[in-house]
Formats: sequence, structure tokens, C-alpha cells
Amino acid sequence: MHQPLRIFPVLGLCFLNTFLNLIQAPMSFCADDPRYLNCSSTIQCGDLQGISYPFWGLNRARYCGLSPEFQVTCNKSAPIITIKNQNFRVLHINNALRALTVARSSYWYNLCPGSLHNTSQVAPFTYTSDTVTDNLTIYYGCPSSSSTNVGSMMESSRFTCTTNQSSTVGYVLARKAGDLTNANLASIEDYLGTCNTSVIIPVNQSVIQDLKANATLDALKAAIDQGFGMQWLDDDGLCQKCLKSGGQCGQVQDSGEFTCYCREQSYSSSCPGMS
Ligand SMILES: *[C@@H]1O[C@H](CO)[C@@H](O)[C@H](O)[C@H]1NC(C)=O
Ligand SMILES: *[C@@H]1O[C@H](CO)[C@@H](O)[C@H](O)[C@H]1NC(C)=O
Ligand SMILES: *[C@@H]1O[C@H](CO)[C@@H](O)[C@H](O)[C@H]1NC(C)=O
Ligand SMILES: *[C@@H]1O[C@H](CO)[C@@H](O)[C@H](O)[C@H]1NC(C)=O
Ligand SMILES: *[C@@H]1O[C@H](CO)[C@@H](O)[C@H](O)[C@H]1NC(C)=O
Ligand SMILES: *[C@@H]1O[C@H](CO)[C@@H](O)[C@H](O)[C@H]1NC(C)=O
Ligand SMILES: *[C@@H]1O[C@H](CO)[C@@H](O)[C@H](O)[C@H]1NC(C)=O
Ligand SMILES: *[C@@H]1O[C@H](CO)[C@@H](O)[C@H](O)[C@H]1NC(C)=O
Repeated sequence: MHQPLRIFPVLGLCFLNTFLNLIQAPMSFCADDPRYLNCSSTIQCGDLQGISYPFWGLNRARYCGLSPEFQVTCNKSAPIITIKNQNFRVLHINNALRALTVARSSYWYNLCPGSLHNTSQVAPFTYTSDTVTDNLTIYYGCPSSSSTNVGSMMESSRFTCTTNQSSTVGYVLARKAGDLTNANLASIEDYLGTCNTSVIIPVNQSVIQDLKANATLDALKAAIDQGFGMQWLDDDGLCQKCLKSGGQCGQVQDSGEFTCYCREQSYSSSCPGMS
């Protein structure tokens, strides 16, 4: 007869806690939903701190975020997301704008990756409006000396990749607004068209625009390492509503539906007791 008497007041207080949200810290005997606790933690990796929904990974379980592309891994202080097998280093996340700045991992301070691939489709993300997706091209395996003087005109953006003791010549070309008035551009493009292959890197248009007419290799590399912007879809304020009610945002794994993890259990949009 002793046990039920002890349990009832506890349930009553839990009930109060849920609906009034007044008493919190002393309620340790109300078992917090482990999913609420898990999704309350944020991701820290290098310079990137406090990353939350829709991102998951590391200390945040799969159910705390959206699709696999939102999984963050941490490689020696470098936060990485992976889209279609391609790794992107995450430089910045702006939750309010649902935007992030990323750079291709294999081109991070490196113009000679092991294998050459154009940037894959970035779905479920879309490029931000300040990203240009075809204005910076890296050319590989270019004829080392040109009969024209184009090679020397491009001298400042020339680099070499050395693999297995053999070197190949490459160039980085940034196409800027106003370039069409550059009489040399056509012959430069003709020459670069004879290179073995090329890779197009998305870049921030304002960073490209700031490049000097005759950009140095260092400036071009810096433009690549500044990264470019991607956005994710608007959720019509769903997560904001959940956070305001004291919950943590997440996703039901089976259905892919949004869910709001509250202290005691999960709800479809927000925690009860507050609007
Ligand atoms: C959250 O869950 C994940 C996956 O189960 C686990 O690896 C991680 O340690 C948990 N994090 C916290 C803060 O409990
Ligand atoms: C981690 O980063 C290093 C360079 O710092 C790179 O060589 C390595 O491939 C990366 N590992 C993974 C799993 O991406
Ligand atoms: C990248 O895309 C450009 C333009 O579509 C193409 O010419 C080039 O061959 C592609 N590079 C690779 C490595 O697939
Ligand atoms: C272009 O590729 C072919 C075949 O891989 C190679 O034989 C040739 O040397 C390359 N050209 C240059 C300029 O690197
Ligand atoms: C670019 O600058 C280099 C020296 O840094 C110079 O040799 C070259 O002629 C310049 N090219 C153009 C197109 O001005
Ligand atoms: C370098 O040589 C090794 C062994 O000869 C070969 O397997 C590899 O493909 C070569 N790498 C390149 C980039 O040519
Ligand atoms: C990108 O290149 C095109 C020409 O190829 C040019 O019209 C456009 O203004 C360039 N964008 C930027 C941001 O420079
Ligand atoms: C592009 O560069 C500008 C100027 O540096 C910056 O304000 C903006 O945030 C950058 N965009 C992205 C997506 O990083």
C-alpha cells in the first residue's frame, strides 16, 4: 500500500511541469525523454560551434536532423558534410537564413586532388544567390608551351601538379563581369580548351568580383577557399515554433515527418503548455 502513495504525487508534479513549464531543475525524478536530451546537445568541431537542427552527427543522433546530407562529421577540427560522395568543408552556418558556406574538401589549400570531379548536384541544398557556379575553372594537363603568347598571359595563374614524378601544367581561370571587353579572353579560352580536362568550382560572386584583372594564383586559391553558399528549404517556421515552446526539433525516422521533442515526450509541432 506504500508504493502507489509515493508515485501519485510524482505523476502529479510531472503533469504540472508539463502543462505549466514552471518547475524545471528540481524535477529530476521526471524522466526526461532521451531524444529530447540528445537533441539538446549541439555539435562542436573546430571553429564551428553550437550547431543544431537540421544538422546531426557526432553527439547528435540521426533523429535530431534531416536527411544524410545534413550529417556533420569532424575530421581533425574540420567539419565536413557529404553530398553524393563528395566532401564539403563547412565554414559557416547561418540558421536564421537557412544558409551555410562550404568549400570543396579536396580543393582545400590544394589544386591537385587525387581525382578530378566537378561539383556534384547539391540537392537537397540549393545554391545561394551570391554563388556563381561556372565562373571559376581549373584546367589540367595543358600543353606546356604555347606557340602563341597566351601561356605567358596566363603565367600568374599557372600551377603544376606532380604525380609519380611527372608534372602536368594547369591554369585557374576566373571569368568576371566586364571580361567580355577583354580582347584576349577568346584566345585564352581557345588555348585552355586544348588542356586535357577541367573542373568547375562554385565560388562567391563578390569574392570573384574583387579579384584583380590579372589575379595571382594565391588570390585565386583564396577565392576557392572562401567557399560558396548553399541553402536549405524553409520549414514554414515549424522548428522555431517548437524551440519557442521549449522543445528540440527532429524528424520521425519512418515517415520523415517533423517532430518536436519535449521533456517528457514528442509532439508533432510544439510542446503543450505554451503557444
Ligand atoms: C546521442 O545519440 C547518439 C547516437 O545514439 C550517441 O552517439 C550520442 O552519444 C548521444 N549524445 C548524447 C549527448 O547523449
Ligand atoms: C581528413 O583530412 C585529411 C587532411 O587533413 C585528409 O588527408 C583525409 O583524407 C581526411 N579524411 C577523411 C576521412 O576525409
Ligand atoms: C566538368 O564540367 C565541364 C563542363 O561541363 C566539362 O567540360 C569537364 O570535362 C568536366 N570535368 C570533369 C572532370 O568531369
Ligand atoms: C593528356 O592526357 C593524355 C592521356 O592521359 C596524356 O598522354 C598526355 O600526356 C596529357 N597531356 C598533357 C599535356 O598532360
Ligand atoms: C599578368 O601578370 C604577369 C606578371 O604577374 C604578367 O607577366 C602577364 O603579362 C600579365 N597578364 C596580363 C594578361 O596582363
Ligand atoms: C602512380 O603510379 C601508381 C603505380 O605505378 C599507379 O597505380 C597510379 O595510378 C599512378 N597515379 C597517377 C595519378 O598517375
Ligand atoms: C560570370 O561570367 C560571366 C561571363 O562568362 C559574366 O557575364 C558574369 O558577370 C560573371 N559573374 C561574375 C560574378 O563576375
Ligand atoms: C560572399 O562574400 C560576401 C563578401 O565577403 C559575404 O558578405 C557573404 O556572406 C558571402 N556569401 C557566402 C554565402 O558565404
